[in-house]
Amino acid sequence: MKRIFSGMQPTNRLTLGNYLGALKNWVKMQDEADTQCIYCVVDLHAITVSQDTAGIKTATREVAAAYIAAGVDPKKSIIFAQSAVTAHSQLGWILGCMTPLGWLNRMTQFKDKAGKDKEKASLGLYGYPALMAADILLYQTTHVPVGDDQKQHVELTRDIATSFNIHIAKKDFFTIPEPVIMGDATRVMSLRDGTAKMSKSAESDMSRINLTDDADLIVQKIKKAKTDAGVVPSNEGEYEGRPEAKNLITIYAALADTSKEKVMGEYGGQQFSAFKNALSDLCVDKLSPMTTRMRELMADVGEIDRILADSADKAAAIAEPVMSDVMDVMGFWKRP
Ligand code: TRP
Repeated sequence: MKRIFSGMQPTNRLTLGNYLGALKNWVKMQDEADTQCIYCVVDLHAITVSQDTAGIKTATREVAAAYIAAGVDPKKSIIFAQSAVTAHSQLGWILGCMTPLGWLNRMTQFKDKAGKDKEKASLGLYGYPALMAADILLYQTTHVPVGDDQKQHVELTRDIATSFNIHIAKKDFFTIPEPVIMGDATRVMSLRDGTAKMSKSAESDMSRINLTDDADLIVQKIKKAKTDAGVVPSNEGEYEGRPEAKNLITIYAALADTSKEKVMGEYGGQQFSAFKNALSDLCVDKLSPMTTRMRELMADVGEIDRILADSADKAAAIAEPVMSDVMDVMGFWKRP
């Protein structure tokens, strides 16, 4: 049986990039045979960079609402908040004690997130990958769908698990998870700079389409999206060196569930303005049911809170026995 675990942080709003690059795949995975999917909102990770205690609960609900609105079905998949299952924190500590600084020092995301003044970065940010390893290993996860930027963390998780199995448990205790790299073909880039990833934390809101944007805003953002002086490319060769043109075609193809070739076959040679109109229509068409569903869920949080609570019980039912075994292996004390 396959067990899939993935998560997103409740920081900033989710974007079209999160939908096309991740959520759409998550939805597909929940219908695969013999597969259990666990999708977490990683609020413990969110406090590694800022402690917005006033906003975090709503942000967590909003990300869970986005999962559901995108098509993750709480009847098929487990959708829960990381903080609700205390074993994440417990195992995170234990694995942190087994993760050499030498391994952590190789993590490129820490370097990016810590910025210039590393003295100000928290211990939590530094140890982030050990908590992520705990998330994955607690569920004996077999597959971890992530973007390219998280591959290094999943590889570190494999190293931590292997080391734990050999040196501590002296048996195959943790399942060694496989990274599943998503979104290579559908890598959504900034609308302002085709060489930078569409990011929920980038400064300019015009660089991204948020899952909460209304139709007018989507139309406006696509209209203003950067292009070049040429016409819409007709084949792959023609978009080489034209990252903005390539990006719009990628977005269109992903939203329409078709190939870039087909899109270029239809729009190649036309003015960008015409193509952008078609793209706005498509984008509004695909996103507005999601936006509506998200709004409904957020308007009365009773339902989302119930889903999160039920799912946390299901998650705990898997994680707690594993955690209990870890405690035994470690020689730690459990309350009878
Ligand atoms: N680090 C991931 C990110 O920022 C989020 C995350 C936390 C995660 N724990 C995870 C992803 C476990 C996959 C599996 O995108």
